[in-house]
Amino acid sequence: MDRFVIRPGIESDHEDVKRIAKECNFLSWSKGSVRSWAKTPGSVFLVAEIDGRIVGFILSRTVLDEAEILVLAINEKYRNKGIGTLLLLRNLQFLGDQKIRRIFLEVDVANEMARHLYEKVGFKVDGVRKKYYDGKRDAYIMSYN
Ligand SMILES: CC(C)(COP(=O)(O)OP(=O)(O)OC[C@H]1O[C@@H](n2cnc3c(N)ncnc32)[C@H](O)[C@@H]1OP(=O)(O)O)[C@@H](O)C(=O)NCCC(=O)NCCS
Repeated sequence: MDRFVIRPGIESDHEDVKRIAKECNFLSWSKGSVRSWAKTPGSVFLVAEIDGRIVGFILSRTVLDEAEILVLAINEKYRNKGIGTLLLLRNLQFLGDQKIRRIFLEVDVANEMARHLYEKVGFKVDGVRKKYYDGKRDAYIMSYN
């Protein structure tokens, strides 16, 4: 595969990030909200880039000694190549350096690939939020200590 780099996201990445969020049907993230979240104090915004093109991103936020992973998305053409794993690991490393004690997230129970990825790096399922997505689909609550 082409070489990719992981780096902090910048303002000019936002259009690409919105496009990827839209491709993943993360509609609430494709309408400009990534830009405002990324500017919020405590946000951690990393992108994966190949040949000047953004192919994935992760956005998390910290509050005191806890953090939440809000969204992780990879362009469909670039999935299953280890990019999501690396983005997640870099994010965990960054949060660890900030002395974050606990990281949590929600993931659709039907999203086996994402659950596999999160468990692979050490997240554990803590419980289920019923009808979390669109008032219909359940979500696992996962955490990493
Ligand atoms: C989930 C997502 C971020 C993963 O990114 P990625 O770059 O494709 O992930 P990686 O290539 O690093 O790792 C994929 C892992 O899933 C495994 N996998 C692939 N298909 C799978 C499936 N159907 N079920 C379970 N595991 C699967 C791969 O074998 C690999 O695991 P391994 O490293 O142990 O072999 C990406 O698929 C994506 O953007 N999905 C849409 C958005 C999304 O669902 N985001 C997560 C919720 S916020």
